[in-house]
Amino acid sequence: MISSPKHKLLEICDLVVDFEDTHSPSHRILDGIDLTLQQGDALSLVGESGSGKTVLALTILGLLPETGHVRTGKALWNGVDLLRLNENERRKIRGSQIAMIFQDPQASLNPVHPVGKQIAWLLRLHRDVSRVEATLEALQLFESVKLKDPERCFYSYPRELSGGMCQRVMIAMALACRPKLLIADEPTSALDVTTAAGIVNLIGDLRQSSGLSILFITHDLGLAAKVSQHVAIIDKGVIVDQRPISEVFSTSIHPITRRLLASYEALSPNFFGTDQPNITGANL
Ligand SMILES: Nc1ncnc2c1ncn2[C@@H]1O[C@H](COP(=O)(O)OP(=O)(O)O)[C@@H](O)[C@H]1O
Ligand SMILES: [Mg+2]
Repeated sequence: MISSPKHKLLEICDLVVDFEDTHSPSHRILDGIDLTLQQGDALSLVGESGSGKTVLALTILGLLPETGHVRTGKALWNGVDLLRLNENERRKIRGSQIAMIFQDPQASLNPVHPVGKQIAWLLRLHRDVSRVEATLEALQLFESVKLKDPERCFYSYPRELSGGMCQRVMIAMALACRPKLLIADEPTSALDVTTAAGIVNLIGDLRQSSGLSILFITHDLGLAAKVSQHVAIIDKGVIVDQRPISEVFSTSIHPITRRLLASYEALSPNFFGTDQPNITGANL
């Protein structure tokens, strides 16, 4: 049987981004990025600190600071160039079609309101639901991200929850408007190893259960292997290597990929063992 080709959800073509510099000519931060994410897939963007990962995510969402400028390129979302939309059109896509979670979940939540109320407000803002319906849906979302004791969490303030619980709340918020793409920018780097593993498994599960596409941003190839089937390696604003994650272990990889792999293996020498890793997302 011939399977139909997958649909290109996000296609970034020749993207160049500069930042203004008050003391010298502007800095080139992204230099000709080409990247494609197919619907339902998970792609990891892996690179060392300062390589341009967050700037790429912010560019896709139209959230670059004023000093950042897109010089050339396209970011096609279902064929529509996100970089050519006005702020109103972009806002409609942000949150409802593309959602993002960040490194520091506690800082992303409003400290003065219970987290359940924050998510219920979000639901009422985007969808025509009553207060009761929003509360019930918020509780369901908390269950879907496997928050223990959803009712207690609903009335908790961010400071009363652990980092891992806050990240689950953030994921629930990201899912509230049923996006097609979740951009997760180093979502586990503020968490301890065990908590991080739970979040990574959750993200893998969500992709499998709901068909959510994922752009997973990390400096850690080990985490990338747990979440995604494909990896794109970024170095100094350039994608230097792009391949299925299983091929990261082949001999022809780019030197930067090899360096990222070596730093990962040094931390966790037995992770991959002698066999190729099982790459079926959440099962890892
Ligand atoms: N607002 C900014 N103004 C100037 N340079 C910036 C700004 N934000 C990021 N940069 C620079 O862009 C480069 C990439 O940053 P970033 O995307 O945050 O890296 P990372 O891969 O760690 O997420 C870095 O050299 C950083 O200094
Ligand atoms: Mg970053």
